[in-house]
Amino acid sequence: MKKVIVIGASGKIGQAALSGLGHHDIVTASGSGKGADYQVDIGSEESIRELFKQVGSFDAVVNTVGVCEYADFSDMTEQQWMTTVLSKMMGQINLVRIGQEYVNDGGSFSLITGILSSKPIPMAIADATTSGAIDTFVKCVAYELPRGIRVNSINPTVIEEAWDVYGEMMSGFQPVPGSLVGKAFARSVDGFITGEVITVDA
Ligand SMILES: NC(=O)c1ccc[n+]([C@@H]2O[C@H](COP(=O)([O-])OP(=O)(O)OC[C@H]3O[C@@H](n4cnc5c(N)ncnc54)[C@H](OP(=O)(O)O)[C@@H]3O)[C@@H](O)[C@H]2O)c1
Repeated sequence: MKKVIVIGASGKIGQAALSGLGHHDIVTASGSGKGADYQVDIGSEESIRELFKQVGSFDAVVNTVGVCEYADFSDMTEQQWMTTVLSKMMGQINLVRIGQEYVNDGGSFSLITGILSSKPIPMAIADATTSGAIDTFVKCVAYELPRGIRVNSINPTVIEEAWDVYGEMMSGFQPVPGSLVGKAFARSVDGFITGEVITVDA
């Protein structure tokens, strides 16, 4: 059993991740902190550091948060780009950058990306771009992490539990059960793989 911090546990992908991690000692965190053990803002270095300090000893961080703005490229403002970059890209990079100081030897980080980086759709350029950046980040930073620390990203298609939110913009996509995303997070946390993008597609 490992001590695993699940960030964004109240969300759709957070719930999916939890479905695969039931055999672990889970600590939850989310933006509002409602119904979670801790409140954290992944857009703030101070907040991330405070979370890791408060939890103390832990073996894995599972992040399922990445706030994205959706608009056509020609309409998207710099502020919309920066919202997405500071959350889905820098937020996740900071979890690893700061978390490597606190995670136990042989620990792991599992990040969230998404299928739109390889199967583009209208309105999703910022999500696609930052997902691609994080997939590249995990492949490359895996060589630099100390003390046997591992890092992977989970790159899922839309899950059935979120089809009511994303279905209209994802015509032609086949949703998968969230439990498959849970198993992908479990492979990342429980296995020995590192620097991998774990794709979950139909
Ligand atoms: N849903 C899908 O089918 C799917 C598929 C592939 C990829 N993804 C990606 O997965 C990520 C999450 O999607 P989702 O559908 O699970 O979203 P969601 O249901 O809206 O959940 C978002 C979660 O993020 C937390 N959160 C929001 N802002 C935060 C912050 N600044 N710091 C910490 N936590 C914060 C929320 O906590 P509070 O509610 O407490 O604020 C909530 O737990 C997105 O990047 C999305 O692109 C989703």
